[in-house]
Amino acid sequence: MQVPTIIGHRGARTNAPENTLAGLRRAHEEGATWVEFDVKLTRDGVPVLIHDETVDRTTDARGAVREMTLAEISRIDAGCPAVFGDRFRGARIPTLEESLALLLSLGMGFNLEVKPCPGLERETSHAALAVVARSWPAGAPVPVISSFKAASLEAAREAAPALPRGYLAERLEGDWIGAARALGCATIHPGFRHLERAQVEEAHSHGFPVLVWTVNDAARAVEIRGWGADSLISDVPGAIAAAIA
Ligand code: G3P
Ligand code: MG
Repeated sequence: MQVPTIIGHRGARTNAPENTLAGLRRAHEEGATWVEFDVKLTRDGVPVLIHDETVDRTTDARGAVREMTLAEISRIDAGCPAVFGDRFRGARIPTLEESLALLLSLGMGFNLEVKPCPGLERETSHAALAVVARSWPAGAPVPVISSFKAASLEAAREAAPALPRGYLAERLEGDWIGAARALGCATIHPGFRHLERAQVEEAHSHGFPVLVWTVNDAARAVEIRGWGADSLISDVPGAIAAAIA
């Protein structure tokens, strides 16, 4: 399958609050054609973009995402005040639905990471893929659905068998090719820290494109691209695109 060379991580996390509409726009402004983002469910089962199990780090409020309704979560300020101060005041935790509408209007593609709260592995995939099915048209770029959780990937396969799935791992170990195959994955998404050239070659020999995260250092980006990695997922997509150009 076709994947872009650069993917903005959580939008474009260094220069705009992660997993917000401002972050998706910022990735577009930096020239990225795709973004990665994380999806969890609110208490009332609505897929929203957020990485952590609590809102504490990225908003001006405190609390567990799974204990907050969409109405409650939509009121808080997700402009990452601890990082950006008042610069992005008014940013919200967006629903998956409104995020896809924005990406569609920008002509962008996406890697949706299913990031379930414990025990919600299957529900999170089912709800997220129901949104994708109703709000992402057939002619738009085909997204990749990734997860660290096997149960989420299995549920994604049931809910949207035609959409490619990505095998996410901090480190590729054991029979990772077999595990990716068993889950019917189309792509491999390793962390950059432990990745080796031989693993990129191994993935390619089995027909898997390799999408590496989170590559924010120019020299490392050049090295990993030199190994043949297909895609670099970065907090600074513009800078990394310039580095490997
Ligand atoms: O999908 C790549 C990367 O986002 C996985 O790690 O913790 O940043 O969601 P994390
Ligand atoms: Mg992620």
